[in-house]
Amino acid sequence: MKKLFIYYSLTGNGEAVALKMKELGFETIRVKPKRDISGPFFFKIMRGGFQALRKASPKLDGSSDLTRLDPPASEYDVIAVGSPVWFARLSPAANSVLKTLPEKAGKLSFVLWAGGGEAPKALERIKKEYPGAPVIIMKQPSENPSELEKLGEYLTEQDHA
Ligand SMILES: Cc1cc2nc3c(=O)[nH]c(=O)nc-3n(C[C@H](O)[C@H](O)[C@H](O)COP(=O)(O)O)c2cc1C
Repeated sequence: MKKLFIYYSLTGNGEAVALKMKELGFETIRVKPKRDISGPFFFKIMRGGFQALRKASPKLDGSSDLTRLDPPASEYDVIAVGSPVWFARLSPAANSVLKTLPEKAGKLSFVLWAGGGEAPKALERIKKEYPGAPVIIMKQPSENPSELEKLGEYLTEQDHA
């Protein structure tokens, strides 16, 4: 079974998740917006949070072009979209991933991580727009490595392992 984890990370928690996903047999791709948010942390929160609120989907840089994947996304059986939670929502870069993925891409699931371990608006949206897609939310994985252990169980339950 071919499995792909496409994720965004601003402050590095996503890297810990990606390492674990690799161990679990996923190929991984980290996407990056052409112009990612920058500046002091407070500005990042405000800018990024506002983008997430209005469901922005920034242009991704060339190396993140999902229409030119080799092999193409359609050849994967499972595609897990990974995102930090911003203002209870998916990150803008994850919105871009969802917009760019071809319809025929593999079975979609969501791997989320958040400072507080909750993502109410993201869950609401996934339920509505991707009914049946499995979701896991972890609490700040770089500080709580035990959270990553949930991934194996989650993927086994979803028959992704
Ligand atoms: C713009 C922004 C908004 C955030 N909003 C939330 C939030 O609503 N709830 C929460 O629990 N954590 C929130 N966080 C914290 C991140 O979800 C958390 O630190 C996550 O692990 C970061 O992942 P990363 O290091 O891969 O970027 C926010 C962080 C940023 C930068």
